[in-house]
Amino acid sequence: MQKRPKIGIIMSTTRPGRFADIPTGWLFNIAKERNDADFEIVDLRDYPMPFFEEKVPLHVAPPQNEVALRWGEKMASLDGFIFVTAEYNHSIPAVLKNALDYLYSEIHRKPATFLGYGGTGAARAIGHLGEILAAASLKQTVHIGMVEMIGMLREGKTMAEYPYLDDFAKRMLDEIVWWANTLKEDRSGDEVAEAA
Ligand SMILES: Cc1cc2nc3c(=O)[nH]c(=O)nc-3n(C[C@H](O)[C@H](O)[C@H](O)COP(=O)(O)O)c2cc1C
Repeated sequence: MQKRPKIGIIMSTTRPGRFADIPTGWLFNIAKERNDADFEIVDLRDYPMPFFEEKVPLHVAPPQNEVALRWGEKMASLDGFIFVTAEYNHSIPAVLKNALDYLYSEIHRKPATFLGYGGTGAARAIGHLGEILAAASLKQTVHIGMVEMIGMLREGKTMAEYPYLDDFAKRMLDEIVWWANTLKEDRSGDEVAEAA
């Protein structure tokens, strides 16, 4: 029988005082209740990479930078990704784009979905992220909007006060687990993905 898929919950902002910890912790707690997949938080703060400065493109050779290598190994070890992302100037945070620039085959043939937060629930950033990843981007996403963010940041509310978001999270988790399982099975004879 196939092993349970490993799903990474990627924290995509790194600034001090970031909001990212709140939605990530909330999602991780819901995900942990499941017994059909293993979930792991992958925090970009743990992978402080310089702006991309590799001499050789990554389709030719792996990165020389040790942190980037470690980041790539972590992403390669996962079967699917949930990017928890803010929207910075109508797109994805630069630190996330830089981290993605250091990847090549590690996310190949794997599914990705998104939990966004911001004025429009980071819808614009998520749209860009789907194009950037050029992966199996799923339709089931979660958006924490202005109302919820203001409630939490200014009125001391918590995620528990927005229970409708739990339903979106569960639907998103159902989908990413299904896709991760399905693609993991199909990747098992895939030399490109296995070497990644
Ligand atoms: C550089 C920067 C650009 C931002 N641009 C947007 C934006 O385009 N759309 C939006 O909804 N919020 C924007 N915001 C507000 C963020 O949604 C809000 O600050 C959020 O908490 C950022 O995520 P973080 O706390 O995890 O860094 C921006 C914030 C920063 C710091």
